[in-house]
Amino acid sequence: MRVLITGGKGFLGAWIARRLAARGFSLRIFDVKDDRRLVAAIAGEKTAAAADWRVGDIVSTDDVRAAADGCDAIVHLAGVLTPDCAADPLRGAQINLIGTLNVFEAARAHRIARIVYTSSAGVFGPGSGSAPLPQSHYGTFKLACEGSARSYFNDHGLASIGFRPYIVYGPGRETGLTAGPTLACRAAAHGEAYTIGYTGTAGLIHVDDVAAAYEAAVMHEPDGVHVFNLNGVSASNEEVIAEIHRAAPEARIACKGPALLMPAAVAADDLDRVLGGLPRTSLREGIAQTVAWYREGRW
Ligand SMILES: NC(=O)c1ccc[n+]([C@@H]2O[C@H](COP(=O)([O-])OP(=O)(O)OC[C@H]3O[C@@H](n4cnc5c(N)ncnc54)[C@H](O)[C@@H]3O)[C@@H](O)[C@H]2O)c1
Repeated sequence: MRVLITGGKGFLGAWIARRLAARGFSLRIFDVKDDRRLVAAIAGEKTAAAADWRVGDIVSTDDVRAAADGCDAIVHLAGVLTPDCAADPLRGAQINLIGTLNVFEAARAHRIARIVYTSSAGVFGPGSGSAPLPQSHYGTFKLACEGSARSYFNDHGLASIGFRPYIVYGPGRETGLTAGPTLACRAAAHGEAYTIGYTGTAGLIHVDDVAAAYEAAVMHEPDGVHVFNLNGVSASNEEVIAEIHRAAPEARIACKGPALLMPAAVAADDLDRVLGGLPRTSLREGIAQTVAWYREGRW
């Protein structure tokens, strides 16, 4: 199977590439830059070198269609995060919404039956982890992608699986509003002080648990339209900081700032029934692994 990974040079891309390469799939990585460093650090030099790297813009229908030619599945990750969408909502909509429509159009054109795309827990507001009420442009565009995925199934029979990850943490997460827990692990590993820029309780999911869900989704026989929540473990920033101190007793980590405009947890759904038992890394283990990875100095 040849899998196109859009946004594949990024954080989730590197971890998903690692799992798909271990299955023996051939990978085509589509991104704005041919920058193989993170994929090499996470998935190994061999995987980074073996992948077919394509440079292009997810906003360009032609670029995406060309990248999808000859692929059997698409893992769509290309996107910009909450701060970039807030700073430039028009560009945010082009990348996150039009980019997703381009992926579905490319799948239609090339008759690609397996589409796995990335929504976000940002579709939820602070009042509910089950009824979407986005509070940001980012969450609003992601919710629109889910509606369009349903429409592509109704109009053209295109099946898909979407995921709504909450805060993904782990080695390599360095951008976005919620990179704080990972950046705090990195700072602790390097003996530096760090302040996480938001407060409150949220879901935190280790990046390899997310990658395992995407791997299972790529393997799943297309059977309709799914959107699954990926909450991980709900924890306050104080609990996160306590785990960092456990892994690095000398750490100087604090948190300050507004609460996220999101719920403390997103609801459980039929993810495990549809995709089988997925791994669930505890916060303790995930934080310890992340601190250890940065201590090794591979990044
Ligand atoms: N990290 C999280 O906690 C989290 C949570 C929920 C959802 N998501 C979603 O997961 C996806 C991947 O996020 P990530 O954390 O790996 O972020 P990331 O920034 O590391 O990766 C995103 C990738 O998309 C690429 N990209 C951006 N604009 C592009 C364009 N115009 N054309 C082609 N590629 C482009 C970037 O170059 C980058 O490599 C995104 O869609 C994001 O919204 C992430």
